[in-house]
Amino acid sequence: MKKLEIMRKLVADLAVLNTKFHNLHWNVKGPRFVPVHEALEDMYNEFFEHYDDVAERMRMLDAYAPAALKDYLALTDVEELPEKDFDIKEVITIVKASYEGLKASVQALRDASSDDAVTAAMCDDLESAYDKRIWFASQQLK
Ligand SMILES: [Fe+2]
Repeated sequence: MKKLEIMRKLVADLAVLNTKFHNLHWNVKGPRFVPVHEALEDMYNEFFEHYDDVAERMRMLDAYAPAALKDYLALTDVEELPEKDFDIKEVITIVKASYEGLKASVQALRDASSDDAVTAAMCDDLESAYDKRIWFASQQLK
């Protein structure tokens, strides 16, 4: 995919993940409810920041960012979940897979940004954040 196509999909992924992680935040259950509930809030707040960062970078590149929920669902491959109870291990497994997907997307975006140091640097920052989330999730699944 070309750089702007990857960015469009990344904006959509981050928007859908923001909603998906609210679902997990509201409906996780289990003995470690409070720390997991709070960690999920940190994660969806971070998605929301990154959603804006990627969209604003698109504007700097003189492209429009997708801005409609129906377009996000058409662009993303993030699968939404029904509202239900989620146990903690299930949540952490979903969290880890979600961040692995984001990491692959920002790596692809960086690979497509060899002519654009600012976008490449943004990808470095995002990948660093996602690596830390993947590490946290991995440790909790051991
Ligand atoms: Fe909340």
